[in-house]
Amino acid sequence: MLFGAFEVKTIIEPFRIKTVEPIRMTTHREREAILRVARFNLFGVHAVDVLIDLLTDSGTSAMSSEQWAAIMRGDESYAGARSFFRLYDRVCEMTGFKEILPTHQGRASERILFDTLCSEGLIVPNNCHFDTTRANVEQSGAQAVDLVIDACKDPASRHPFKGNMDVDRLRALIEKEGRERIPLCMVTITNNSGGGQPVSLENLRSVREVCDEFEIPFFLDACRFAENAYFIKQREPGMSDRSIPEIVRETFDLADGATISAKKDGLVNIGGLLLFRDRDLALQARNNLILTEGFPTYGGLAGRDLDAMAQGFVEIVDEHYLAYRIRSVAYLGEKMVAGGVPIMEPPGGHAVYIDAGRFCPHIPPTQFPGQAVVVGLYRHAGIRAVEIGSVMFGGGEHDAPDMELVRLAIPRRVYTQSHIDYVAEAVVELYENRDSLKGLRIVEEPPALRHFTAAFEEC
Ligand code: F0G
Repeated sequence: MLFGAFEVKTIIEPFRIKTVEPIRMTTHREREAILRVARFNLFGVHAVDVLIDLLTDSGTSAMSSEQWAAIMRGDESYAGARSFFRLYDRVCEMTGFKEILPTHQGRASERILFDTLCSEGLIVPNNCHFDTTRANVEQSGAQAVDLVIDACKDPASRHPFKGNMDVDRLRALIEKEGRERIPLCMVTITNNSGGGQPVSLENLRSVREVCDEFEIPFFLDACRFAENAYFIKQREPGMSDRSIPEIVRETFDLADGATISAKKDGLVNIGGLLLFRDRDLALQARNNLILTEGFPTYGGLAGRDLDAMAQGFVEIVDEHYLAYRIRSVAYLGEKMVAGGVPIMEPPGGHAVYIDAGRFCPHIPPTQFPGQAVVVGLYRHAGIRAVEIGSVMFGGGEHDAPDMELVRLAIPRRVYTQSHIDYVAEAVVELYENRDSLKGLRIVEEPPALRHFTAAFEEC
C-alpha cells in the first residue's frame, strides 16, 4: 500500500491504544486444574482464566473513542430518541434501506423475520444457515436448507468465493418444491458456518435473478457485510477500483431485506438490525418486535447502544481498518500453514478454522478430535477456541458433520500482532506434540445444544 512516496510493507493496526485491560497470566498447572473444574468444556472456563479469548468475534470488539463519545450522546427517550434517528440516517445512507428496525442482537431479528414470513411446511434456502438462524427457521415450523457450492466442503480448495450459493441447486429446489413453499431465500455474508468465506457480487446477482424469476423475496444475513465487501474488492474481477461503501451499497441494493447482528461488523458489544424494502412487511415485523424487544425506535437497546452502532457503521467501512483486519486473520493462517498445521484454506474474514480431523488423525470422531485440540490449546497456552464438529453438531438424531473443525475467531481491534504471533506459535507447538493429545468422552449432556454445557472426561 502506498502512503505518499513511502511504500509500506507491514500493515499495522490502524489505531493506538488508549485504555488497556490486563490479561491475567496463568501457569500450565493452574490451567490443568481449571480444565478439570470446567469438566473439559471451555464454555465453563471463566474469562479471567483465559489469556487469549478466540471463542467468538461476536460482541467482543473494542470500541473506538468516537464510539465511547457517542455513548455519552445517547438519548434515552422511550420513543423517537435522537439516537434512533442518528442510527437511521447512517444505516439508510449505507444500505439504502428505509425500513429500519433496531433489535438487541441478530437472533432477535431472525426470530421476528421468520415469525413474520414462515410457517409449517415452508422451506428457507440459504448458503449455510448459522445455528441460531436454522433454529429460528425451525421454530417457525419451516425447514432450513443449505445450498452452498461444493468447494466450501473441501478444506484444501482455494476457491476465492467459497461462500457462494449453488444457484443451480437453488433453482432445482424451487422447481421441485414449488415457489409457494419458499417464502424467502437467504444468503449469509460472509458464510460463518462454512468457514467465514465470502460471497461474490456475481453470485448475489445470480441468486437475485432466480428470486426475481420466481418472485421470491431475497434477504441477506449480513453480519459481516464489510469483510465480505473487502474480499469482493480484492478478489472479484473489475472490483479493485471500487470503494468499500460502493460495494456495500451494491450488495444491499440486491436484497429485499436483511438481518444484521451488529455485534460483528457493527463494532459494538450488543445490537442488531432488521431491514426491509417493503413497508407492509416492516409494519408486521414492527408489531411483532414490540412483543419482545420494546418500542420500534429502540428495539431492546439503550439509546446509547444505538449511537455506538451508528458510529460503528461509519468506522467499519474504512479501508485501512479492513486491510488490517483481513490481513491479520490471513497472517495467523499463513503462520499456521508454515508450521504444517492443516487449516481450512484460504482463511476466512473473521476466523481461522483448524482441520482437527487431519490435526490429530489418531483420535476418531467418536472421541471428538476438535474438542481434543480445544482442550490441548487451552492447557498448553491458555487460548480459548471453539469446537465446530461432532460435539456441536453430533449426538441424538443428528448425522455426523462433514468436518471436524476448531474455530479461532479474532475479536475486532482487540489483540495486537504479538498476541497473534503467540497464538500461531502455540498452535504450531501443539501440532508438533499432537500425539500427546487425548480423545474425550461425554459424561453428561443436555437434550439440545450440548456443546454449551456437556461435561467430558479424557480417554
Ligand atoms: N448470523 C450469523 C452469520 C452469525 O454468525 C451470528 C452469530 C448470528 C446470525 C446471530 O447473531 O449472536 O447477534 O444473535 N454468530 C456468533 C458467532 C454468535 O460466534 O459466530 P447474534
